[in-house]
Amino acid sequence: MVDYDPNIIQTIEDDRPRIPVGLLSREEKDRLIERGFLGLYRWYVAKSQEKRNWNPDLSFDWRAFRKDHSPEVVRILEGFFAVEQYVPDYVTTLLRVIRKSHGRSHFHIRWGAEEERHAELWHNAVLFSGQRDGEWLRGYMGDLRANMWQLPWDDPIHMIFYTVFQERATQVNYLNLGVIARGKSELEMFANDADPILDAACRTIAADEAAHYNFFLEGARLYMYYYPTKAIEAMSDVIKYFAMPAGNIIPNYDRFAELVHKAAIYGPREHAKDVVQVALKNLGVAGRKALENGIKRSRLVPDEDGNLRETAVFEGIDFQFIQSAVQRIFGRIEGHERESGLWEVDPTPFVPNYA
Ligand SMILES: [Fe+2]
Ligand SMILES: [Fe+2]
Repeated sequence: MVDYDPNIIQTIEDDRPRIPVGLLSREEKDRLIERGFLGLYRWYVAKSQEKRNWNPDLSFDWRAFRKDHSPEVVRILEGFFAVEQYVPDYVTTLLRVIRKSHGRSHFHIRWGAEEERHAELWHNAVLFSGQRDGEWLRGYMGDLRANMWQLPWDDPIHMIFYTVFQERATQVNYLNLGVIARGKSELEMFANDADPILDAACRTIAADEAAHYNFFLEGARLYMYYYPTKAIEAMSDVIKYFAMPAGNIIPNYDRFAELVHKAAIYGPREHAKDVVQVALKNLGVAGRKALENGIKRSRLVPDEDGNLRETAVFEGIDFQFIQSAVQRIFGRIEGHERESGLWEVDPTPFVPNYA
């Protein structure tokens, strides 16, 4: 008989790294993500109506918009209008993919309504610049609508990450045009473009984009918490192939992209520093390298019944941060549900996925 240390099993047990393993079934995780989206959507609508209920015609003194903007600023307004006016495509294409999710699909319609007013705002800005007329804009819109925007990804997880990066990128674009509108650009070509109306427009619309970014970010965190492997793979794909919406269908888009780059509004530097880096940080990821490593090391471990469960160990990904963020999401939902009374009839509590 082999003589062995009677404590060996305990020693091995003690030495085993403590891996937080997913506890919940797929059905339960799906249910929690769905409840999370619905609760967030309800919270979002209340906030949106209370704080950002602006109107693209009446919230700005359009008559006071400058008529002598540089041709570059007018081309930028035109380009922003072009991107935003594809809103029917942005809404219908993704709505088909997420239509079974009550929270996500209803949010998407609300989001679409907020994007629609962005198109109207830029439409007004172009028109009141005095350098294009209604006839020209109608023709331009006809040319734009001749092409239809297609989804860059056709599954809900990839699209949540796409929208995270896209909303942040859009917000950065508008904030940086705001710098020009406040007369703060260091570039010679914008020396005479200060305009309080344009500044107000940029701030208003950037606040919407920030709210959109936050909603999608919270949604992305829900996926990262309950489906970490799938979520970080999707995130990595999206970062690798990211392009701004409609860039491939807007006529002469390259010239517009070149202009916003030259204008220090949006280019590879802003994309890396102000979009990707910021979003990764908000998702608990240390950087792009960490994301790639996380994918390589993600793994499944069997539970006592032999079912493979996802572990929450990804090097360079702060899972504790994600868990706290998701807890906060449900806390926010609870606050809203307590205020409205929903908590008493159909509450949405947080359920941890890890022991
Ligand atoms: Fe927008
Ligand atoms: Fe947006």
